[in-house]
Amino acid sequence: MRTIIIAANWKMNKSIEEAHRFALEVHESCKDKEIPGLVPIIAPAYPYLGLLADVAKNCVLEIAAQDVSAHLEGAFTGEVSAAMLASMDIKYAIVGHSERRQYHHESNELIREKLAALQYYGLTPILCIGESLNERDEGNTYKVLGTQLEGCLRGINIHAPQDLIIAYEPVWAIGTGRTATGEQAQEAHAYVRAWLAKNYSKKLAKSISIIYGGSVTPANLGALLAMPDIDGGLIGGASLVFENYRQMIYIAMQKLGVVHD
Ligand code: 13P
Repeated sequence: MRTIIIAANWKMNKSIEEAHRFALEVHESCKDKEIPGLVPIIAPAYPYLGLLADVAKNCVLEIAAQDVSAHLEGAFTGEVSAAMLASMDIKYAIVGHSERRQYHHESNELIREKLAALQYYGLTPILCIGESLNERDEGNTYKVLGTQLEGCLRGINIHAPQDLIIAYEPVWAIGTGRTATGEQAQEAHAYVRAWLAKNYSKKLAKSISIIYGGSVTPANLGALLAMPDIDGGLIGGASLVFENYRQMIYIAMQKLGVVHD
């Protein structure tokens, strides 16, 4: 059974007080609880990482960075290294989000270097891939996903599930309220898993969590999780509201059979 990941990507939202309160509420509802098979993650803005990592101590909640430097250390003003994240007990970081590809012109090559830096320090990269609406309409979805996977993972060793999480985020579904249907997302996830089987091994491909992002809400998460290759969500807008986040954790727990209605 693969791990289900419910990851909140808060992007550039929330004051420090709001972020703190939210994390305390999650801590309050999760403390002393083990939820085998489920990892709830929050990716806040950089300045809040330390505070939230402290709240998440002794709790199933994990904290992720939204990005990382490709460089290991040195004169790189404004950058934060994987080593710094590791020293704060941060275990996850998002790389290759489409907003970074679009607004910061990040290439697959740069994303690969970031991914390698994370792995070097033992963090789990959450690698985002996904096609634009044009690319989908032109029938190039798999070609785009294949190019992104090849470009971001060339030469990268993956031995175990904690070495990589992949987030399939079709760009046309991000922040648009237009989520991919379970079937559309499933097709893409199955392609990604087959790519991993071909380029690594079947055994590894079966063990890697592939999560979906793009207008996920408590209303559509259940249908997405019902798909055989969808192992969770990377959630933007809806994850900013604690009640939504709580409900999405609950839906994942239902899927795991840990709770019943
Ligand atoms: P939305 O859930 O707001 O569409 O954002 C998805 C996303 O980009 C998560 O990384």
